[in-house]
Formats: sequence, C-alpha cells, structure tokens
Amino acid sequence: MNVTHKRPDTFILESAGRNYENISALNPTTINIKQGERVAIVGPSGSGKTTLLSLFNSTVQASSGKITVLGNELGETSGKTLKKIRSKIATIPQNLALVDSLRVWQNIITGQIGCQGFLGNLIDLIFPSKNKILEIHSILKRLGIEEKLFATTSNLSRGQKQRVALARAIYQNPQVILADEPVSSVDPARAENLVQLLNQISEEENITLVMSLHNLELAKAHFPRLIGLRNGEIQFDSNPADLNESKFKDLYTLSEREILDDGEC
Ligand SMILES: Nc1ncnc2c1ncn2[C@@H]1O[C@H](COP(=O)(O)OP(=O)(O)OP(=O)(O)O)[C@@H](O)[C@H]1O
Ligand SMILES: [Mg+2]
Repeated sequence: MNVTHKRPDTFILESAGRNYENISALNPTTINIKQGERVAIVGPSGSGKTTLLSLFNSTVQASSGKITVLGNELGETSGKTLKKIRSKIATIPQNLALVDSLRVWQNIITGQIGCQGFLGNLIDLIFPSKNKILEIHSILKRLGIEEKLFATTSNLSRGQKQRVALARAIYQNPQVILADEPVSSVDPARAENLVQLLNQISEEENITLVMSLHNLELAKAHFPRLIGLRNGEIQFDSNPADLNESKFKDLYTLSEREILDDGEC
C-alpha cells in the first residue's frame, strides 16, 4: 500500500492566472504544493515570481482559474476565514517590510498582529508580556542575533534585518513561509546561511516553504523542488537533479526585447 503521498495540500492552483490590464503577469497555471514541501521559484526579473507568491497569500486575486489554500477555495472565502488562512501564512516580502524606527522585538511581535484585535496589538507593542519577550529572545537566539533584541531596527545591517524578518515569520507560528528573494544584497556566505536556516526550520517544523530566488546555485543546492518561470509561464517543475544545464540556460537567456523591457535584477 502506498502511504507516502498522503500529506495534505497547502496550495492548489487550477489554471490560475493574473493579468494587469493588458499584461499577463502569470499565465493560467496549475500547481500543487503539499504540506512540508520546500520549493524554490526561479526565473528572470519580471517572470512572475512575486505574482505567484501573491496569489498564494491572497494579497492579489487571480484573474482566472481556481486557488485552494490550506483546504479553502479562495473565491468562496472571505471575512474571518480568510483572515485565519492568512494568519497561517507568513510572508517575508522582497523589501522585508520592517519599520526602521521600531525596536527589533516590536517588529517581531507584529508577526502575530493578524491573530488578535487592535487593542491586543497596541498593548503588545507598548507593554509586551515577559513570556512574549522570552519567546522572541529564543527565536533570535536560534538565528544568532539575540543581542539585537532591544536594538533599533534602523541600526542593523541588511543581513541582520533579513534575520529579523525571518524571526517575525517564525513568531507567527505559521504553517507556510513564503519568502520573496529574502537574501538579496548580502554576501554569498550570509545568503547561503540564511537559506540553509530557513530550510532547516521548515523541515524540523513541517512548514511548507516557498522561496523565490535569483541565485540558481543556492536554489539547486538547498531545495528538492524547483519551479522555473519565464514570461509568466512555467518552464519546469522538478527535482534539480533531473534538470540538465540547458534548462537553466534557456530560462535565463533573454531576448534583446526582454533586456530592453526590464534591466532590473
Ligand atoms: N501591480 C502591478 N501592476 C502592473 N504590472 C505588474 C504589477 N505587478 C507586476 N506586474 C508585471 O507583471 C510581471 C511579473 O512581475 P513580478 O513582479 O511577478 O516578477 P518577478 O519575477 O517577481 O520579478 P523580480 O525578479 O524583478 O522581482 C512584470 O511584467 C511586471 O511588470
Ligand atoms: Mg519579484
């Protein structure tokens, strides 16, 4: 009897796509990601990576198709149910979304803001309980920056800020972590260390991890599943060992038109 693939689904996309006026950011796409899977999304700038992550966490709506998240079809979900689904998905956005003027612990405590009312949030930000501070301290310790607990966020390096954003995601106690290019602008050793940490935490706690990455080598080295996107279209969805170099080369060989359209990386 085959009992190996009985894990519940985290995300099911059935021909789900997203347009912005006349631009197709993501063509109709069908994907299934199971609980506890670790998936890297790779592809050139403008290929649709952030759009795909935004469909997963329902910060943008699909223009077509059907999306099911943690067993709930998004088109039929609103109000408290949608809030509950969102509270189980921690997102580390491309710009980290930290408030520089706040202390590190305050940024982290906002990870649970979706789970309580306005008053609870305000009390937490001004008079946090000792237990919450201890919990945040232990998360920071796991990430190697516990001495920054009371630091002002603006005084941190880029790499330290990335860890604070990761700590906020862990404090949310999520079922899913979506990380959008979380290791940009740090040196290769720090980038690798953070990707490793995220993978380790996801594996230990059975958290589904979906990360967009420009660094192909990191994606190949740390993720058992790679989804390659180009021009809003999936080019491959596979274990990296099953992909030959020409697949990667095709993904990143841009036409002259594409280079002129978007020089950002
Ligand atoms: N809010 C928006 N309004 C209009 N067009 C958008 C919007 N968001 C994304 N797009 C377009 O959709 C396409 C895919 O964008 P997306 O941000 O998903 O790419 P990406 O792969 O994340 O790129 P990068 O690697 O630069 O972050 C691009 O052509 C982009 O210009
Ligand atoms: Mg992006």
